[in-house]
Amino acid sequence: MENATILRHIIEERRSIFPKDYSDKEIPHHIIDEILSNAVLAPNHKRTKPWRFKVFKGNKKQNLGEELQKIYKETTADFQFLQKKYDDIGFKISKANVVISIMVEFSGLVPDWEEIAATSMAVQNMYLTCTAHRIGCYWSSPKLVNHLKDALKIEDNQQCLGLFYLGSLE
Ligand SMILES: Cc1cc2nc3c(=O)[nH]c(=O)nc-3n(C[C@H](O)[C@H](O)[C@H](O)COP(=O)(O)O)c2cc1C
Repeated sequence: MENATILRHIIEERRSIFPKDYSDKEIPHHIIDEILSNAVLAPNHKRTKPWRFKVFKGNKKQNLGEELQKIYKETTADFQFLQKKYDDIGFKISKANVVISIMVEFSGLVPDWEEIAATSMAVQNMYLTCTAHRIGCYWSSPKLVNHLKDALKIEDNQQCLGLFYLGSLE
């Protein structure tokens, strides 16, 4: 197939696929590496490379899920708290094989929106690489991530833009 046809096919095939549809199959290490190394090929103004990704697997992923549940409990008034939502946070994290935190670092060399745009393009590269490998993924951007400053060791010139969930589909 011609490159342009393959590219069009992958772009068309790309979907946000949610953790409930992921299988238990492990995503091989080299594919995670490929997803990240394709991410960082995204265009970025003045070569600021503003994306910062952290990969969570196994116990670290479990701890992240517990932290998100704790944040949900602490930031939600009792009368608004939903046990289903609390459980769902844990379910999504445990069903995903890998979770990647999406962060941007503002260099001050270019407008902040350009750093967010470049980081978003890096995420699109991750989406497309996942599609090519039949890995389900989606970008989740709940308000809860604004409270992950300590857990993710986010610096003052950085911002968390969400979490990228990944899981095999086969
Ligand atoms: C910046 C960004 C943030 C998103 N945040 C969420 C989210 O918090 N929850 C969610 O269910 N989907 C989220 N999504 C996924 C979109 O809702 C999804 O792309 C949309 O449903 C279209 O589906 P598609 O990706 O299969 O085309 C986000 C997508 C983007 C680009």
